[in-house]
Amino acid sequence: MNGPSSGKKLLRVLSGEHQEVPPVWLMRQAGRYLPEYRALRKQAGSFLDLCFTPKLAMEATLQPVRRFGFDAAILFSDILVVPLALGQPVTFEAGDGPRLDPEALGHLCASLDHARLAPVYEAVGLLRQALPPEVALLGFCGAPWTVASYMVAGRGTPDQGPARTLAYEDPRRFAGLINRLVDASIEYLVRQLEAGAEAVQIFDTWAGILPPEEFARWCIEPVGRIVAGVRAAVPGARVIGFPRGAATCLPRYVVQTGVDAVGLDWMIDRAFACASVPAHVVLQGNLDPLVLRAGGTALDRATDAVLAAFAGRPFVFNLGHGILPDTPIAHVERMLARVRGGRA
Ligand code: CP3
Repeated sequence: MNGPSSGKKLLRVLSGEHQEVPPVWLMRQAGRYLPEYRALRKQAGSFLDLCFTPKLAMEATLQPVRRFGFDAAILFSDILVVPLALGQPVTFEAGDGPRLDPEALGHLCASLDHARLAPVYEAVGLLRQALPPEVALLGFCGAPWTVASYMVAGRGTPDQGPARTLAYEDPRRFAGLINRLVDASIEYLVRQLEAGAEAVQIFDTWAGILPPEEFARWCIEPVGRIVAGVRAAVPGARVIGFPRGAATCLPRYVVQTGVDAVGLDWMIDRAFACASVPAHVVLQGNLDPLVLRAGGTALDRATDAVLAAFAGRPFVFNLGHGILPDTPIAHVERMLARVRGGRA
C-alpha cells in the first residue's frame, strides 16, 4: 500500500493532505466522447469483450490519462460484471444499455466466480506497471442497491421501480440479494486491491431514489459492511463512496459507512456538504456534467465555483456524475487548464 509519503497527488489527498491545486479525474473518463475509445471499441467487437480482454481494458483505461494527464486512472470495466460472475447473464445492446435476465435471480451462484473475473484482475496488474508513477490507479464496484436494481429489473429504469417494489413486498428475499452482493463486492474489491489498485470507489448511482429509511437499510448499511470487510482484509485500504442523490442523508452516509472520501453529485448544496461532512472525510466532485458539455463562460464560472467552495479542505476535483458521450474534448481541456491555474 502507498502511505502518506506516496508521491501521487490523489493518494496524498485521500490521506487527508490539502493540495493547493486539487488532483483531478472524471467519472466515466474512458468512453465514447473519445475518438480513440470508439476505435478501440470497434476493434474489440462487444463492450464485454473490451472489459474482459486485459490488454484492451488496459488501453481503454490509459487513453484518457494519456490525452489529458489526469491524476488518476479508473480501471475500465463495468459494475455489471459482478452479476455476470454470480451467474446472471448480462448483455449490452448498442445504444440501449444493459440487459440482464431476471429469471436467473432464483438460481444465482453462492459466491463470485473469480475465474470469470481473472481478466479484470490481470488488467489491474498490467495497469499498475504501465501507468506513469504520478498517476493513481482506482478500482471500483457498484454498490449493492444500484447493482441489485439492474439485476431485478433486467435493465435500466427511470425510477428503479422493480427493485423498490421487491424491497417492499419481499424484504427478506431482497435482503438475501443485497447480502450476496455485499460478500461479492468485498471479495471483488479486495482482489482489485491485491492486484494493484491503490484506492477503490463504490458507485451508488441510484441511492437518491430511496426514501431515508430505505436509504439507510439498502445503501448505508450494506456499503458500511463492504468498507469494514475490505479494511479487514486490506488494512488501510482507501475507499471513496459515491451515493448519488443522497442530499440531506449525506452526513449519515459518510459517518455510518466509514468511507475515506465521498463523491458529491452536482445537485448537492456545497455549503451544506462542507458544513455537514466531518473534516477528516475527503470531498470529491462535483461539476455538473451538463455544464462541461455546454462549455464557454458558463463552464469557467461553474469550475471556479467548485474550486472556491472546497478550497479550504482536502479535495479531489471531479464531475457530479459521469461525463456525457457528446462532451467536446476542448471543454475538458479548458476545464483542466482552469483547475490547474492556466486561466487561458
Ligand atoms: O469511469 C470509467 O471510465 C471506468 C469505466 C466504467 C464504465 N461503467 C464503462 C462503461 C464505470 C466506472 C462504469 C460504472 C457504471 N456502469 C455505473 C455507475 C456509474 C454511472 O455512470 O452511473 C452504472 C450504473 C453502470 C451500468 C451501465 N454500463 C449502463 C447503465 C450502461 C449503458 C449506458 C451507457 O453509458 O452506455 C453501461 C455501459 C458502459 N459502461 C459504457 C462504458 C464506457 C458504454 C458502452 C459502450 O461503449 O458501448
